[in-house]
Amino acid sequence: MNPIPWYLLPDNSTVGPSGQLIIGGCDTLELAAEFGTPVFVYDEDHLRDRCRQAVDAFGRHATYATKAFLCTAMAKLVHEEGMRLDVATGGELAVALAADIPPTDLVLHGNNKSRRELAEALDAGVGRIVVDSFEELDRIESLVTEGATPPKVLLRLTPGIKAETHEFITTGQDDSKFGFTVSSGIATQAVQRASASDSVELIGVHCHIGSQVFQVDNFAKALEVMGRFAEPLNLPELVIGGGLGVAYIEGEEAATISQWGTTLKKAAADVGITSELGIEPGRSITAAAAVTLYEAGTIKHLEGIRTYLAVDGGMSDNPRPVLYGSGYETFLARDIAAERTLTAKVVGKHCESGDVLVREGKLPASVKVGDIIGTPVTGAYGHSMGSNYNKVLRPPVVFCKDGNARLVVRRETYDDLLATDLG
Ligand code: LLP
Repeated sequence: MNPIPWYLLPDNSTVGPSGQLIIGGCDTLELAAEFGTPVFVYDEDHLRDRCRQAVDAFGRHATYATKAFLCTAMAKLVHEEGMRLDVATGGELAVALAADIPPTDLVLHGNNKSRRELAEALDAGVGRIVVDSFEELDRIESLVTEGATPPKVLLRLTPGIKAETHEFITTGQDDSKFGFTVSSGIATQAVQRASASDSVELIGVHCHIGSQVFQVDNFAKALEVMGRFAEPLNLPELVIGGGLGVAYIEGEEAATISQWGTTLKKAAADVGITSELGIEPGRSITAAAAVTLYEAGTIKHLEGIRTYLAVDGGMSDNPRPVLYGSGYETFLARDIAAERTLTAKVVGKHCESGDVLVREGKLPASVKVGDIIGTPVTGAYGHSMGSNYNKVLRPPVVFCKDGNARLVVRRETYDDLLATDLG
């Protein structure tokens, strides 16, 4: 029943004068009072540090996977730090363009890009398209007019590597909706087709074996398969995707982006890969940079059964526990170093029993209604996968740095909920 492990909190976390959690110089209790709860609080310098690790290791081939968390402030931040941006839909592309990211620094992804999305990307002049299927090559060919500069493309390959992670987020195994399978020879056909086409310029191959992968040797295995495949092709770029795992709960340990980079580069050298190597981290850039703050609204002690602590958010701001059974920790913002002797099931406010945020949340026994409760490591795939279930308003996002709190996404309003409702 230890205090919340410090390493799960954002880098620039400190303890305030009354024992409260400070992030990026900002008092979390004051943030909750000013912006309301739930609220996503990011440590801006933590985000910048993770981008720098990626850029130090891979230079301009470090690409941020925006699906982990995207708003215009985030797009600008990662680009300022020297990263390219991976966008996987027309919507992500639109947000990146709204942030004035130069289109040549955008990479378009997706396993079923529509004709419209491809047309938007071509019109914008995105730097790279990662092609996932023959149908997509057909669509691109039909869109690229004669005489136009062909877009640079990479082919997404499925290297046949099964990473140890949740089955919903493994993608590198042969039985996958993504990419061209290496083992069946389809990948070779795709290379022949793309090389022969006047409508695309084939510049590389790509794979992404899965997400929340702790064992970095899984990536080394993928590199071996990719390297063997790519060697005779002599293509300039080889991208190994994202997927580096992060620690969410006490006891979990993960490699840093720098360590991941060193492992990948060594594995690439061992296999004799001469193409420039690229990565696409999402979670490892953003996850640990943020905490979500909630207000405790109900505490229900069921004698001999358990304690329920209900907060003012839930599966609409963090669907990961419900979707993947993901574990999280809890803390009491006003007493961050306190022993956590109470175990409570931290639940949300949605109308279903499955609406759980933390199955066995540990909190100090002094916790009471009205307290600000936090969950660390909620900076990836929380805000981005959030919903309006029960017509709950999506929370705001605040970036904290050197004592300044910058509201980068405001809380939704009832008017926002009705904005698309035509009656
Ligand atoms: N590149 C590609 C092609 C991807 O599909 C993904 C993630 C990434 C990069 C970034 O992966 P990361 O570094 O974030 O692991 N919603 C799930 C994760 C889905 C990941 C989808 N693709 C979750 O909350 O765990």
